[in-house]
Amino acid sequence: MTGPFEQDYASKLCSPAEAANILSSGTNISMGMALGEPPALLQAINERIEAGNLTELKLWYFHSMPEAAATLLRYEMMDHVHPHCMFMGPTERALAERGEAEGRKVLNFVPVAFSDAPRLLSQHVELDTFITTVSPMDKHGYFSFGTNNDYASTAARSARHTIVEVNRHMPRVFGDSMIHISEIDGIIENHAPLFEAPEREAHAEERHIGEMIAELVPDGACLQMGIGALPNEVCGHLKSRRDLGIHTELLSPGMVDLIEAGAVTNRQKNTFPGRTVFTFALGNRRMYDLLDDNPAINSHPVNIVNDPRHIAKNDGVISINATLQVDLFGACNSENLAGRQYSGSGGQLDFVRGARASKGGRSIIACTSTAKKGAISRIVPELTGPVTTPRNDVDTVVTEYGVARLIGLSGEERARAMIALAHPDHRADLEAAARKAHIL
Ligand code: COA
Repeated sequence: MTGPFEQDYASKLCSPAEAANILSSGTNISMGMALGEPPALLQAINERIEAGNLTELKLWYFHSMPEAAATLLRYEMMDHVHPHCMFMGPTERALAERGEAEGRKVLNFVPVAFSDAPRLLSQHVELDTFITTVSPMDKHGYFSFGTNNDYASTAARSARHTIVEVNRHMPRVFGDSMIHISEIDGIIENHAPLFEAPEREAHAEERHIGEMIAELVPDGACLQMGIGALPNEVCGHLKSRRDLGIHTELLSPGMVDLIEAGAVTNRQKNTFPGRTVFTFALGNRRMYDLLDDNPAINSHPVNIVNDPRHIAKNDGVISINATLQVDLFGACNSENLAGRQYSGSGGQLDFVRGARASKGGRSIIACTSTAKKGAISRIVPELTGPVTTPRNDVDTVVTEYGVARLIGLSGEERARAMIALAHPDHRADLEAAARKAHIL
């Protein structure tokens, strides 16, 4: 690296331990999510806490990874670190469960739409320090947030101190994804290979659902795909489509396959025509290489990408997301299992609303009809958790038993359509429940 910012870089470059000294006890801190998690910084903060000179940290974040699980999100840290998590994963579920077993509340879940996270972190939380991974600085003094623009680009500018972990494996991504060295307080370098997410094989019902959803996607559609095995499965059936566009919260390997197959041109998009747009990316090395220095793929902050008004500027938006439970009117609980927070609402409602407001758009919510080897129906008379997508917003629901477009249907028609999507073993009970609730 050479250029006018070389000296600035050298003056801000420090060891992880020196960078960790910037943090103060009793403050709010936030870390980049997913691949934005900075492993060496987390390790150094962990060591400072263990040495007994840092405590009472409120840690704000979405979607954590193994690096945080091995450091600040260890159960042993819970006297010093108070996780304020906006999307639960396996680490948070295990922490909550162990705390509960020991009569302690260690995990604080904060409900928020993903689109609103930047505002929450910049206007409602006094952030002292933000830490994240970035790609190496360019000759103009800019680092890129790479795979993780999401809330990082806002939090980095609203926190009192921002420390970045430079990693040459982090792709340099175009869009509104840059931060200048003048906005940064400390730099460390750590060139650890980026995490590659294991891909779960879709099972037979999911494959069938994938085929049915793919039939609902015409040439020229502008796609958003949610998290899980199902979206990748849908992508597998879309390779022969023409002129697809991508405007998505999460960019995942299935969509990269579509780009490489030539099915995506983004030609028909009204916003960022010719460009794939995302706010965070999680997948494999092949995908990270495709993002690197690629002018056809842009990332923007989540408050822009997930803003329903912005989503709806494109025509023919098709959003595809998964859920855990759907009631007889079509309302979805996509985040709570057996009375416990399982994940979060993420950007599901953002995209359901954006797709609905898009000319010719459609939101699709899918799940298999049962869980636990058929014992539990995912179509239920009443949700057992919060409403992630309300009945007034839901458009199309898909299970392995078919496709139901609910817009414009009466309560009775919706209940009949939803019962037809349930597994035959559960239909009689659902019908009886619908009668008892005066829906049928
Ligand atoms: N009752 C009991 N168990 C259930 C259940 C139900 N109603 N529904 C699912 N389960 C079980 C499954 O059997 C599975 O168990 P296993 O791990 O033992 O196999 C587990 O819960 C997870 O279900 P699955 O359908 O495999 O979840 P997933 O990994 O595909 O994720 C969501 C689905 C809904 C949790 C996930 O998409 C999510 O968090 N969505 C909300 C956010 C969102 O949509 N964002 C959009 C943009 S990215």
